[in-house]
Amino acid sequence: MARIPDAFIDDLLARTDIVEVINARVPLKRQGKEYSARCPFHDERSASFTVSPTKQFYHCFGCGAHGTAISFLMNYDRLEFLDAVDELARRAGMEIPRDNPQQRAPQSDSAPMYDALDAAARFFRRQLAASESARAYLDRRDVDAAVREQFAIGYAPDGFSALKDALGTDPRRVALLEKVGLLSKNDRGHSYDKFRDRIVFPIHDRRGRVIAFGGRVLGPEDSPKYLNSPETPLFHKGRELYGLWQVRQANQRIERLVVVEGYMDVVALFQHGVPQAVATLGTATTPDHAELLFRNAPDVYFCFDGDAAGRRAAEKAMASVLPRMRDGRQAFFLFLPDGEDPDTIVRNEGAAGFEARLQDATPLSTFFFDATGEGINLSTLDGKARLAERARPLLAQIPDGAFGDLMRQRLTELTGVGAAAAPPAPPPRPMRGGRGAPAPKRSLVRHAIALLLQKPALALELQPPYPFVALRQPGIDLLTEIIAVVSMRPDINSGMLLAHFDERAEAPALRKLASQTLPGDEASWREELLDAIHQLDLQVLRQRLEELQELQRNRTIDDAGKQELRTLYATLASR
Ligand code: UTP
Ligand code: MN
Repeated sequence: MARIPDAFIDDLLARTDIVEVINARVPLKRQGKEYSARCPFHDERSASFTVSPTKQFYHCFGCGAHGTAISFLMNYDRLEFLDAVDELARRAGMEIPRDNPQQRAPQSDSAPMYDALDAAARFFRRQLAASESARAYLDRRDVDAAVREQFAIGYAPDGFSALKDALGTDPRRVALLEKVGLLSKNDRGHSYDKFRDRIVFPIHDRRGRVIAFGGRVLGPEDSPKYLNSPETPLFHKGRELYGLWQVRQANQRIERLVVVEGYMDVVALFQHGVPQAVATLGTATTPDHAELLFRNAPDVYFCFDGDAAGRRAAEKAMASVLPRMRDGRQAFFLFLPDGEDPDTIVRNEGAAGFEARLQDATPLSTFFFDATGEGINLSTLDGKARLAERARPLLAQIPDGAFGDLMRQRLTELTGVGAAAAPPAPPPRPMRGGRGAPAPKRSLVRHAIALLLQKPALALELQPPYPFVALRQPGIDLLTEIIAVVSMRPDINSGMLLAHFDERAEAPALRKLASQTLPGDEASWREELLDAIHQLDLQVLRQRLEELQELQRNRTIDDAGKQELRTLYATLASR
């Protein structure tokens, strides 16, 4: 695999602000010099997760999660290393250098698939421009030019091989089109266009790449009404949300997401002023969807038909969101009148009408007891027992937090029966001399390391040779290595410096040191570092002095040794 040079990564991270990257995903609160939030990597009530703009790393005092902007994207957006680098590089407007020019894109085997999908999307758009009937259909449904553009809506022509003829110019390309779900195969193994005479809606992934399509028939008599790409290496419909990419593009900060059922609902909501709509792709809301939704917005509104099917779908969505209901997240359920969907509502009532309905939506807590209490007569003991029985296993899935506490309390009020006891709260964390607490007094080596972790560039102030490397003390090798790494990678920040030691036994201790807040400022740290190194250099002299004194006691010292000893006494006396 092509290796990206460390220097590039350092430069990339130097031009990336980790606070911005994280804040776009997990809203951060400023606390002194750092930022904090409830940790996105474990369930907790308090905000143990800190992000340091100066050190450019995040650190959770609760679960130990730790890393740079790159590792954050890997863990949070679930990206591969190269994809995370790619994402940050695009943000910073930087080109990734590759030693192997063949290896143009980060994932060599998926890059051609993305290219094929992109080419297909462009083909479909050209076909829309060329097809009067397709444009007439969109006109009839009042889909305006702006959203056609925004959603890259296209048209797959009639016939069995329009796309195949245009893009499947050689067997390798045909195989690629098959792999990404654009061709179907008949019994004789002959492949033909999957989407024919349909309006096509490209489905984008969270990085804006086309990964699949949905296609709608033009005529009411044709079926199925909608056709979706099959599951492919790039597309897993239980994990994608139609419109999420557009929502991210349209909103600086996503305060809420509105989950609807159809492509046309999303498009209509955008067109009429609700650019936070996403759709599950003809499937129930999965737990993966729920996590993806809440990772993007604290408030999620689910819209359903008011009929029995809508109600069942809502209950499924509820089951998927309960395990994701950390404090700070809210879910609401909106049931629409019979025969209406968000598309018709927003066209008839405008954004204001739709907003008013959202305001009236049922909170998860209410919907939960409505749904679990359905058909139960709470004035009887049996009814109460049954409700408790139904609710308990669901409530047990809610993560530790105030919301879960309140829900269990509500169940007790309704039934007189306590919910299954919540697991006991973990004992309070011992204070780890960090976050604002003054740093404990530590050895010189430790202090020098702590200073360098705080501000690696300080190492550039030191001039070789480094006499202290001769010291036989724990930590000296580490200190030497840190200085060496920084001198080779002058742009390195704290986060990357720690990453250098990621796989090593010292990593946890280094992380702890790095996450402490040192008193003082850059100028005072510089003084402290120079002073610590000076002291260490003197210790080398003392170490040598003791060696020579030992030789003298044993009467094994030679003339050169005696001379050295005299010089040492003089030097040490003068300092
Ligand atoms: P609807 O039938 O409610 O369609 O399906 P809609 O979005 O209101 O579409 P219009 O307004 O008639 O154009 C909702 C969603 O369910 C999936 C699609 O994702 C669709 O957008 N679906 C529906 C299918 O996958 N296949 C179908 O045959 C029908
Ligand atoms: Mn509709």
